[in-house]
Amino acid sequence: MKNILVTGGAGFIGSAFVRHMVEAYPDYRIICYDKLTYAGNLDNLLSVSDEENYRFKRGDIADRQTVESVLQANNIDTIVNFAAESHVDRSILDPDAFVHTDVVGAYILLDEGRKHGIGRFCHVSTDEVYGDIDLGQSSEDDQFLPNSPYAASKAGGELMVRAYHVTYGMDTVVTRGSNTYGPYQYPEKLIPFFTTEAIDDKPLPLYGDGKQIRDWLYVDDHALGVDFLLHHGISGQAYNLAGENQRFNIDVTKRILELLGKPQSLIKHVPDREGHDRRYAMSAQKARQLGWTRKFDFETGIEATVRWYLENEWWWRKIKTGAYLDYYERQYAERLATAKLP
Ligand code: NAD
Ligand code: DAU
Repeated sequence: MKNILVTGGAGFIGSAFVRHMVEAYPDYRIICYDKLTYAGNLDNLLSVSDEENYRFKRGDIADRQTVESVLQANNIDTIVNFAAESHVDRSILDPDAFVHTDVVGAYILLDEGRKHGIGRFCHVSTDEVYGDIDLGQSSEDDQFLPNSPYAASKAGGELMVRAYHVTYGMDTVVTRGSNTYGPYQYPEKLIPFFTTEAIDDKPLPLYGDGKQIRDWLYVDDHALGVDFLLHHGISGQAYNLAGENQRFNIDVTKRILELLGKPQSLIKHVPDREGHDRRYAMSAQKARQLGWTRKFDFETGIEATVRWYLENEWWWRKIKTGAYLDYYERQYAERLATAKLP
């Protein structure tokens, strides 16, 4: 392993992975390949932009010609695929881009990777492929029951990875992470959205009763988990990267407000997300048995995260303009107009 193509490396988790890999492995060349959609941001990579072992190339993973040329030009031997459309609410509004990137894009990367004779293909997936789970924890061999267009597109991409391993003998590993949070997360996802809205004393649109449960994983634990599985995962296997920090959305929201010293009256219960999964929970046993460990508990992670958004307004204020505001209007204007008091 020498020349690693990291797709989607300008996004939230991908950039944490790139920053980590560039520093931890001076002998590897890290080539970040990213389309720079609304969620891709080169500010996330400023700290490594001058490093010798780092390059950036703009491109779409579903664009076969550009993928082929980037693989050849850089003599790529390893691919780590973070590239995705990743926001459930956007997938409900416009599923098209999700099929393009998460299914077709994953396929093109696999196919070009195979033709180019690459070694390991590490594919970053999600706990959402298992769907809603009432009780207990999802294990890697559980059935896929994805419920949103996002979750279904991630399941489709993953199944293509499986097929390329079984049919063509490609050396693949799949990681399934749980809800991830931390610095540099685009402020449309629950924690950065509510933190930055609360800083400005704006209403926090909590879907439904707020009693949905998510399992929170700090971004550095996720990035290091992908590094660990890239190096140690058994070929053809999938591994859960679970935070094992389950929280009700309402409790996460209240903690953010407490940390910011803001009133709970900012919480507005708004009409629910369509098809909203009530609970995700995974067992991390398989990755743990291989040697993966997490460093951050939720309390440490959420404090560090809220502090980061307070100290880095330069990063998020310029995002929350233009097309971001159009999306906000589309997603929240009507919901907030019918909000119930807590
Ligand atoms: P993100 O939305 O912050 O970043 C996605 C990145 O992919 C962006 O930089 C974007 O420009 C790029 N991209 C999108 N379409 C592309 C295309 N066609 N070609 C090339 N680049 C493209 O996402 P994230 O939260 O960092 O998630 C990264 C990966 O981890 C995704 O595969 C996601 O499904 C998975 N995941 C995310 C979470 C989470 O809680 N955020 C949890 C588990 C798994
Ligand atoms: O579980 C892993 C997944 O976590 C990843 O695969 C996805 O890429 C990532 O976006 C995330 O999906 P969620 O839908 O769980 O994350 P989100 O931050 O959008 O929402 C978290 C919870 O908060 C969810 O139950 C919906 C709720 N929510 C979210 C928003 C944006 C609200 O109540 N109000 C909101 O405005």
